[in-house]
Amino acid sequence: MSEQGKVAWKPNKRDAMFLAVIAVVILLLVLGTKERTTKPVPDDPVHQRVTKRATCLKCHGPDGARPQPPGHVRGGQCFQCHQQPAGWIGSRR
Ligand code: HEC
Ligand code: HEC
Repeated sequence: MSEQGKVAWKPNKRDAMFLAVIAVVILLLVLGTKERTTKPVPDDPVHQRVTKRATCLKCHGPDGARPQPPGHVRGGQCFQCHQQPAGWIGSRR
Protein backbone atom coordinates (compact mmCIF):
# COMPACT_ATOMS: atom_id res chain seq x y z
CA MET A 1 0.00 0.00 0.00
CA SER A 2 2.73 2.46 0.83
CA GLU A 3 5.32 1.20 -1.65
CA GLN A 4 5.49 4.57 -3.43
CA GLY A 5 6.15 6.53 -0.30
CA LYS A 6 9.30 4.61 0.49
CA VAL A 7 11.30 5.72 -2.52
CA ALA A 8 14.17 7.85 -1.27
CA TRP A 9 14.33 11.38 -2.68
CA LYS A 10 17.34 11.91 -4.81
CA PRO A 11 17.79 15.42 -6.12
CA ASN A 12 18.00 15.41 -9.88
CA LYS A 13 19.32 18.12 -12.15
CA ARG A 14 16.12 20.15 -12.09
CA ASP A 15 15.96 20.09 -8.30
CA ALA A 16 19.56 21.24 -8.12
CA MET A 17 18.81 24.13 -10.48
CA PHE A 18 15.80 25.09 -8.41
CA LEU A 19 17.81 25.10 -5.19
CA ALA A 20 20.59 27.08 -6.84
CA VAL A 21 18.12 29.75 -7.97
CA ILE A 22 16.68 30.02 -4.47
CA ALA A 23 20.17 30.30 -2.98
CA VAL A 24 21.03 33.13 -5.39
CA VAL A 25 17.82 35.00 -4.59
CA ILE A 26 18.45 34.76 -0.85
CA LEU A 27 22.03 35.89 -1.34
CA LEU A 28 20.91 38.96 -3.32
CA LEU A 29 18.35 39.86 -0.66
CA VAL A 30 20.93 39.60 2.10
CA LEU A 31 23.48 41.66 0.18
CA GLY A 32 20.78 44.25 -0.56
CA THR A 33 20.22 45.02 3.12
CA LYS A 34 23.33 47.03 3.66
CA GLU A 35 23.26 50.39 5.33
CA ARG A 36 21.20 53.25 4.06
CA THR A 37 22.91 55.13 1.31
CA THR A 38 20.83 58.27 1.59
CA LYS A 39 22.69 61.18 3.11
CA PRO A 40 22.05 61.62 6.81
CA VAL A 41 20.79 64.91 8.16
CA PRO A 42 23.86 66.78 9.44
CA ASP A 43 24.28 66.77 13.20
CA ASP A 44 24.59 70.52 13.61
CA PRO A 45 22.68 73.08 15.73
CA VAL A 46 20.39 74.00 12.85
CA HIS A 47 19.29 70.48 12.09
CA GLN A 48 19.03 69.35 15.68
CA ARG A 49 16.16 71.73 16.33
CA VAL A 50 13.95 71.33 13.31
CA THR A 51 10.69 69.58 14.06
CA LYS A 52 8.55 70.42 11.07
CA ARG A 53 8.79 69.43 7.48
CA ALA A 54 7.73 72.94 6.53
CA THR A 55 10.83 74.26 8.30
CA CYS A 56 13.06 71.86 6.41
CA LEU A 57 11.58 73.12 3.19
CA LYS A 58 12.31 76.77 4.03
CA CYS A 59 15.93 75.92 3.36
CA HIS A 60 15.57 72.85 1.19
CA GLY A 61 12.58 73.90 -0.92
CA PRO A 62 13.04 75.17 -4.49
CA ASP A 63 13.82 78.72 -3.32
CA GLY A 64 15.81 77.72 -0.26
CA ALA A 65 19.48 78.05 0.51
CA ARG A 66 20.10 74.44 -0.39
CA PRO A 67 17.33 73.05 -2.57
CA GLN A 68 16.68 69.35 -2.84
CA PRO A 69 18.12 67.95 -6.04
CA PRO A 70 15.82 67.91 -9.05
CA GLY A 71 13.66 64.81 -9.15
CA HIS A 72 13.72 64.49 -5.37
CA VAL A 73 10.52 63.02 -3.93
CA ARG A 74 7.83 65.55 -3.16
CA GLY A 75 6.73 65.53 0.43
CA GLY A 76 7.37 62.47 2.48
CA GLN A 77 8.77 62.18 5.94
CA CYS A 78 12.33 63.47 5.64
CA PHE A 79 13.61 61.27 8.45
CA GLN A 80 12.25 58.15 6.80
CA CYS A 81 15.07 58.36 4.31
CA HIS A 82 17.55 60.81 5.82
CA GLN A 83 18.77 59.60 9.16
CA GLN A 84 17.95 61.87 12.06
CA PRO A 85 20.89 63.71 13.60
CA ALA A 86 22.21 61.90 16.67
CA GLY A 87 21.68 64.94 18.87
CA TRP A 88 18.14 65.67 17.71
CA ILE A 89 16.22 67.45 20.46
CA GLY A 90 13.15 68.50 18.54
CA SER A 91 10.73 66.08 20.17
CA ARG A 92 11.68 67.03 23.71
CA ARG A 93 10.13 70.45 23.72
C1 HEC B 1 18.11 77.02 8.37
C2 HEC B 1 18.18 76.29 7.11
C3 HEC B 1 18.00 74.77 7.15
C4 HEC B 1 16.98 74.06 7.73
C5 HEC B 1 15.78 74.57 8.53
C6 HEC B 1 17.23 72.67 7.40
N1 HEC B 1 18.39 72.58 6.68
FE1 HEC B 1 19.20 70.85 5.97
N2 HEC B 1 20.86 71.88 5.36
C7 HEC B 1 20.97 73.25 5.34
C8 HEC B 1 22.24 73.59 4.74
C9 HEC B 1 22.77 75.02 4.53
C10 HEC B 1 22.88 72.36 4.42
C11 HEC B 1 24.23 72.16 3.77
C12 HEC B 1 25.35 72.50 4.68
C13 HEC B 1 25.55 71.47 5.73
O1 HEC B 1 25.94 70.33 5.37
O2 HEC B 1 25.39 71.78 6.92
C14 HEC B 1 21.98 71.31 4.80
C15 HEC B 1 22.22 69.97 4.61
C16 HEC B 1 21.25 68.97 4.72
C17 HEC B 1 21.39 67.59 4.32
C18 HEC B 1 22.64 66.95 3.77
C19 HEC B 1 22.90 67.43 2.42
C20 HEC B 1 24.34 67.27 2.10
O3 HEC B 1 24.75 67.91 1.14
O4 HEC B 1 25.06 66.53 2.80
C21 HEC B 1 20.22 66.95 4.56
C22 HEC B 1 19.88 65.49 4.27
C23 HEC B 1 19.34 67.92 5.13
N3 HEC B 1 19.97 69.13 5.23
C24 HEC B 1 18.05 67.66 5.53
C25 HEC B 1 17.27 68.52 6.28
C26 HEC B 1 16.03 68.14 6.91
C27 HEC B 1 15.38 66.77 6.83
C28 HEC B 1 15.58 69.25 7.57
C29 HEC B 1 14.32 69.35 8.45
C30 HEC B 1 14.29 68.40 9.56
C31 HEC B 1 16.52 70.34 7.32
N4 HEC B 1 17.54 69.84 6.54
C32 HEC B 1 16.39 71.63 7.78
C33 HEC B 1 20.05 74.16 5.80
C34 HEC B 1 18.90 73.84 6.50
C1 HEC C 1 11.78 58.60 -0.20
C2 HEC C 1 13.03 58.93 0.44
C3 HEC C 1 13.32 60.40 0.75
C4 HEC C 1 12.55 61.28 1.47
C5 HEC C 1 11.21 61.03 2.14
C6 HEC C 1 13.28 62.51 1.51
N1 HEC C 1 14.47 62.38 0.81
FE1 HEC C 1 15.87 63.83 0.52
N2 HEC C 1 16.94 62.60 -0.69
C7 HEC C 1 16.64 61.27 -0.92
C8 HEC C 1 17.63 60.72 -1.83
C9 HEC C 1 17.66 59.29 -2.34
C10 HEC C 1 18.54 61.77 -2.10
C11 HEC C 1 19.76 61.73 -2.99
C12 HEC C 1 19.27 62.17 -4.35
C13 HEC C 1 20.35 62.35 -5.34
O1 HEC C 1 21.51 62.20 -4.99
O2 HEC C 1 19.98 62.67 -6.47
C14 HEC C 1 18.09 62.93 -1.35
C15 HEC C 1 18.74 64.16 -1.36
C16 HEC C 1 18.40 65.23 -0.53
C17 HEC C 1 19.14 66.45 -0.39
C18 HEC C 1 20.40 66.83 -1.11
C19 HEC C 1 21.58 66.17 -0.49
C20 HEC C 1 22.81 66.61 -1.25
O3 HEC C 1 23.40 65.74 -1.89
O4 HEC C 1 23.15 67.77 -1.17
C21 HEC C 1 18.48 67.24 0.49
C22 HEC C 1 18.87 68.63 0.97
C23 HEC C 1 17.30 66.51 0.92
N3 HEC C 1 17.29 65.29 0.27
C24 HEC C 1 16.37 66.99 1.81
C25 HEC C 1 15.18 66.35 2.12
C26 HEC C 1 14.11 66.94 2.93
C27 HEC C 1 14.16 68.34 3.53
C28 HEC C 1 13.12 66.01 3.00
C29 HEC C 1 11.74 66.16 3.69
C30 HEC C 1 10.88 67.21 3.11
C31 HEC C 1 13.56 64.83 2.27
N4 HEC C 1 14.80 65.08 1.76
C32 HEC C 1 12.83 63.66 2.16
C33 HEC C 1 15.56 60.57 -0.42
C34 HEC C 1 14.53 61.11 0.33
